[in-house]
Amino acid sequence: MLGNVDDDSKDPNPVAAQLIRKHYKGVIIAAGGFKGDTAEAILQAGDADLVAFGRDFIANPDLPERLRKGLPLNPYDRPTFFGGTGTGYTDYPFHSADALAA
Ligand SMILES: Cc1cc2nc3c(=O)[nH]c(=O)nc-3n(C[C@H](O)[C@H](O)[C@H](O)COP(=O)(O)O)c2cc1C
Repeated sequence: MLGNVDDDSKDPNPVAAQLIRKHYKGVIIAAGGFKGDTAEAILQAGDADLVAFGRDFIANPDLPERLRKGLPLNPYDRPTFFGGTGTGYTDYPFHSADALAA
């Protein structure tokens, strides 16, 4: 995974934020290919202040709670990303209420 491209031959480590941090003292929001653990890592390293999620947020309406609790994520369905209907946008399931409450 590199950015939003599935390519395992590429270095998956985010580098843009690290480079920008050296020259820019404002708020940096990193995005592209992050999972919970890699988002936490770039924040802990101080190379970004926030991490944005795209595809995983589309597929997981309760993404923050799932990341907080280490719950599995719904896989996203790329063919419906630009479909123009609610399919693939508003019909992804929430995790079970029991798991979220725990
Ligand atoms: C369906 C879809 C449409 C997007 N459209 C745009 C866009 O028009 N302009 C843009 O800069 N980024 C766009 N993005 C990229 C997101 O803003 C975000 O940077 C990216 O999805 C974050 O990476 P992630 O999906 O790996 O979390 C889009 C992403 C998705 C999934």
